[in-house]
Amino acid sequence: MGKNTVTLTNNSTNESFEFDLIECTRGPKAIDFGKLFEKTGIFSYDPGYASTAGCKSTISYIDGKNGVLLYRGIPIQDLVAKYKFTDICSLLISGELPKDSTESAEIDLELRHLSFLHEGLINIFKAFPDGAHPMANLSSAVGALSTFYKDYMEIDNDDEYQMMAKRMIAKIPTLVAFSYRNSIGYPNVYPDISRSYVENFLFMLRAFPDGKLKRTLQGEVEIDKLEVEALDKIFTLHADHGQNASTTTVRNVASTGVHPYAAISAGINALWGPSHGGANEKVLAQLAEIDDAKNVDKFIARVKDKNDPFRLMGFGHRVYKNYDPRAKVLKGLKDDLAKKGIKMNNKFSDIAEKIEEVALKDEYFIERNLYPNVDFYSGIILTALKIPVSLFTPIFVIGRMPGWCAQVIEHIKSGARITRPRQVYEGK
Ligand code: ACO
Repeated sequence: MGKNTVTLTNNSTNESFEFDLIECTRGPKAIDFGKLFEKTGIFSYDPGYASTAGCKSTISYIDGKNGVLLYRGIPIQDLVAKYKFTDICSLLISGELPKDSTESAEIDLELRHLSFLHEGLINIFKAFPDGAHPMANLSSAVGALSTFYKDYMEIDNDDEYQMMAKRMIAKIPTLVAFSYRNSIGYPNVYPDISRSYVENFLFMLRAFPDGKLKRTLQGEVEIDKLEVEALDKIFTLHADHGQNASTTTVRNVASTGVHPYAAISAGINALWGPSHGGANEKVLAQLAEIDDAKNVDKFIARVKDKNDPFRLMGFGHRVYKNYDPRAKVLKGLKDDLAKKGIKMNNKFSDIAEKIEEVALKDEYFIERNLYPNVDFYSGIILTALKIPVSLFTPIFVIGRMPGWCAQVIEHIKSGARITRPRQVYEGK
């Protein structure tokens, strides 16, 4: 058997260079190109990093060909069926699931106790105009958290890292609720720590300032157990996803040695874009635009038109060349909630299913391996949970928070160098 190396030959000079292959526990190996420039005097060119691994990681694993996603080696289908989101937070940031239900309840309770915000931070929301997108308010507020928690993490102090992460995970639902309520001119509702992590979030969105849930002209505001369970699963499905654009942003910013909350604030901005987490909001706008399942064919023809930059939102993925396993779970969850009596927007649900049916049989989508991604069905469920559309991407932020925290911890602990790619200069 040959050595685990690859040889690169420069055909113009006839020089050959050997590079080590890095072993991994799953998935493709990587060529160690760290010394490529030093050895050869040339750079590698990979815009969009389609073939580049920027780090080594033990947090999540994606097999895009077979539609598999693991957190710390465990399939997400198992995690979503058996564990609460707060258990998943523990799995991602500390590497361990709770041992038993007592430990699970303790984790949830600790997070609830950390959910309050400093009054000074709350004033920030008042500075933003009505109608500001909650994602904009949120990234500013998360950046500002670093002014209240000034302590940087000691590289060898595990407790400090864990506290940084728990504080962030605990406060993000409060920040999201306050971002939203301020954006529509509603007074804030403070956390009610007698409620679980997920239920408390729905409470902060729905309650009146006197802390009561009341029937309004818009309908019932009581929190249904099914709603809490569904939102819990949605958070779990978004908890981590390898080196996507926002996680890479978080790692890159953290590599400069900045405060972890500043790095996470940058990740929130990266997630906001419609090619990434912002797609969930756009999917709903697209369903509304299509308006009727009978218009789907016309719509798909437009998506395929090369002269039209229009894309089918919630479809396609850089890594998945198969059905996104998160979308599969969400589709099942949508059907399950409808069966159990949670009121769905049937028109949207029918349009989405028709899009999927047409697209998966169409040559354009088959050739390019375009399948529904995590954002395709999540908005329909969130609407059924009475979550306003402008909160869809902030909900993604709550779910992704344990992943970003775990990735920051892993990156800093690895002693990674500052991220500093090169360029191919084409100027004067
Ligand atoms: N609708 C129509 N065509 C598409 C779509 C789509 N949603 N996605 C990709 N394609 C086509 C492209 O036009 C391209 O076709 P071509 O080879 O004829 O030029 C081909 O498929 C490959 O597309 P790329 O843009 O090269 O794929 P990339 O990996 O760079 O982009 C992305 C992935 C951004 C997710 C893309 O599929 C997309 O824009 N999807 C819609 C937005 C979306 O749903 N984003 C959420 C992704 S999940 C997440 O981030 C949480």
